[in-house]
Amino acid sequence: MSNRTFTMIKPDAMKNGHAGVIIDRFIKEGYNIVALKVTRLSAEKAGEFYAVHRERPFYGELVEFMSSGPIVAAILEKDNAVSAFRELIGATDPAKAADGTIRKLYATSLGENAVHGSDSDENARIEGDFFFSGLERVL
Ligand code: PPS
Repeated sequence: MSNRTFTMIKPDAMKNGHAGVIIDRFIKEGYNIVALKVTRLSAEKAGEFYAVHRERPFYGELVEFMSSGPIVAAILEKDNAVSAFRELIGATDPAKAADGTIRKLYATSLGENAVHGSDSDENARIEGDFFFSGLERVL
């Protein structure tokens, strides 16, 4: 079990002014910030990041949304980070997310759901490496 996960604050949360309070929540929940930056995905890069979903009906919409504006990308550290963080963000659909979770508080809709969290230790590593070089993170 690794102690790191990867997250993005998605374009809807950025546009709605929630980035600061979401990062503050990460810290208050005990995550160390290992890497952090504001960036923007091109449609090509978003397509690559979400390639595992390319056969799904929402793929085009997801790629378009994720390349529609700036995002925050971050690597976070805490015991059992991947599953603890998935619990903190809540269900994919904010209507089904538990009270107090980040998606319940800040997501717009199923497609525009405020934050991403890696779903496995392996993907956390792959996704962190997608955005950050060795020089851009705490070792
Ligand atoms: S999975 O396979 O169970 O992990 O799938 P899920 O977590 O539900 O969704 C994977 C990512 O696709 C996004 N998603 C959608 N986008 C647009 N429209 C619809 N209907 C839709 N359903 C799911 C979802 O937000 C996930 O994005 P990430 O960035 O991984 O959170």
